[in-house]
Amino acid sequence: MKQKGPIGVFDSGIGGLTVLRSIVEQLPQYDYLYLGDNGRAPYGNRSFNTIHQYTWECVQWMFAQGCPLVILACNTASAKALRTIQQQDMPGRHPDERVLGVIRPTAEVIGNYTKTNHIGVLGTTGTVQSGSYLLEIEHFFPELKVYQQACPLWVPIIESGEYLKPGADYYVKQYLDELLKQSADIDTILLACTHYPLLLQKIKQHLPEDIKVVGQGDIVAHSLKDYLSRHPEMEQRLAKAGSRQFFTTMDDTPEFDKHASAFFGTSIQSVYTDVRKC
Ligand code: DGL
Repeated sequence: MKQKGPIGVFDSGIGGLTVLRSIVEQLPQYDYLYLGDNGRAPYGNRSFNTIHQYTWECVQWMFAQGCPLVILACNTASAKALRTIQQQDMPGRHPDERVLGVIRPTAEVIGNYTKTNHIGVLGTTGTVQSGSYLLEIEHFFPELKVYQQACPLWVPIIESGEYLKPGADYYVKQYLDELLKQSADIDTILLACTHYPLLLQKIKQHLPEDIKVVGQGDIVAHSLKDYLSRHPEMEQRLAKAGSRQFFTTMDDTPEFDKHASAFFGTSIQSVYTDVRKC
C-alpha cells in the first residue's frame, strides 16, 4: 500500500482558501496541502493553453508532494483544464491519483436555490466564455434560465488587497448592474469564482434584499464528503493527522500570509515553491 498523503487544494491564488475553509470545517480530520499559484495569477483572462499548462504543472507538483487527491478549487482551471488533465494527461501516468473540479458539484445543486428558475452566474472571463456552467446546469436542471456575467476586475482588486476599500464598490456595482439588466426575474446569484466571497458584503449592499447569493465553499465541501464516502479506496489513502500546509508560487510569502489569513480565517505561514522545477 502506498504512503498516505494530504488532500491537495489548488487555486490560481488565495481564493481557494474560501473553499478550503469550508472543507476543513466539514472534514477536519484529514491532512491538507494548499497551493496558490499567486506568482502567475490571475488566470481569468489567460488562454486555454496557458491555463492548462499552469494548472497541470501545479497538479503534478502536488502529486510529487504525495497528494493522492487534488481538488481544483479554481473555477477557471476547472472550466479550462480539468477535462484535458483527466482525459489526456493522467491516463497511463497517474493511474492511482484523482483530480476533481468545482463546477459539476455546484451545477448539481444550484437549481435547488431558485424559485423563479432564473439564476445569475458571476465568474472570470475564462469561466464565462468556456460555457461550462451553461452546459453543466442544463444537464441537471434543464428548466433553468442561466444568465452569465464576467467580472474581470474583481480578482485583481481582491488579490491586491483592495477589496474592502470604497473604490471597489464602483466595480462591484458595475458588474451586478450588467447581470441584472439581463433579466428582472433573477432570484439567485452564484459566485462562480472562489475569490468572490471576499466581496460578499459589498455584493449584498448593491443587490435587492430578496436576491440570494450562493458561494461554493459549503457545496464543494459537502460534495467531497460524499465522494469520499463512495470511494473508500481513496479515503484509505488519505493521511488523517489534521495537518495543514500552505504553499505559494509568489516569492513574497509575508504578503501572501497577510491576505491568506483573512481568506482562511486563521493565521497562515506559507512556503514559497517553484512548481516549474517539478
Ligand atoms: N479563483 C479563480 C476562480 O475560481 C480565478 C481567479 C483568477 O482569475 O485567477 O475562477
